[in-house]
Amino acid sequence: MAIPAQEAQPRLDVRLATADDRAALEANETSKTAGLSAAYLDLQAEGDFYVVVGLVDGQVRGRVILDCRPTTELVPEMKLLWVVPDARRQGLGAALTSYLERLATKLGYNEIFLGVTPDNPAAIPLYISLDYTPTGAHRSAVNLSVIDGENGGTDEPTEAIYRKSLTVR
Ligand SMILES: CC(C)(COP(=O)(O)OP(=O)(O)OC[C@H]1O[C@@H](n2cnc3c(N)ncnc32)[C@H](O)[C@@H]1OP(=O)(O)O)[C@@H](O)C(=O)NCCC(=O)NCCS
Repeated sequence: MAIPAQEAQPRLDVRLATADDRAALEANETSKTAGLSAAYLDLQAEGDFYVVVGLVDGQVRGRVILDCRPTTELVPEMKLLWVVPDARRQGLGAALTSYLERLATKLGYNEIFLGVTPDNPAAIPLYISLDYTPTGAHRSAVNLSVIDGENGGTDEPTEAIYRKSLTVR
């Protein structure tokens, strides 16, 4: 009896972005977020701001930001986690988040924050599975549908602030 061939698992890599990633990052932006990646890389060059890329089989398919600037409300803050729709549910979101936690630890932080709209069906289970907990604080937020390039969402959403301790193992 023939044994069905096993589907090859995609190779996931996560690393800090460099100027060379600008075109690949931009190619993954939606029409509504065009230019954003270029702006992130410029901020990274100024310091206290880290752009991290996630790759599937060598191609940039996601990104996330660690914002440690003193002007930021929550320091350090994970921002703009995003995986292209056809690369989701392969572990890249979790890998990007874990990388950011290790980066924050290396930078000397013992906690990390993020904001998420309470109706985000993918991000909340992801954060809960990685031991983030709501602090009870909220703030107004950018409409997530803009980030995801889809229609819908409320015009003035509120984000719940989540926190994770980086010292508890
Ligand atoms: C949130 C997001 C980054 C997740 O990326 P991803 O690469 O698909 O996540 P992973 O594959 O690492 O998922 C890890 C775990 O998170 C949870 N999860 C992820 N997506 C989920 C979904 N759509 N529904 C329920 N649980 C989900 C699951 O527990 C999953 O583990 P499993 O696949 O073994 O069940 C992605 O959906 C995305 O880019 N969404 C749009 C942008 C966004 O909402 N960003 C977050 C802003 S706060």
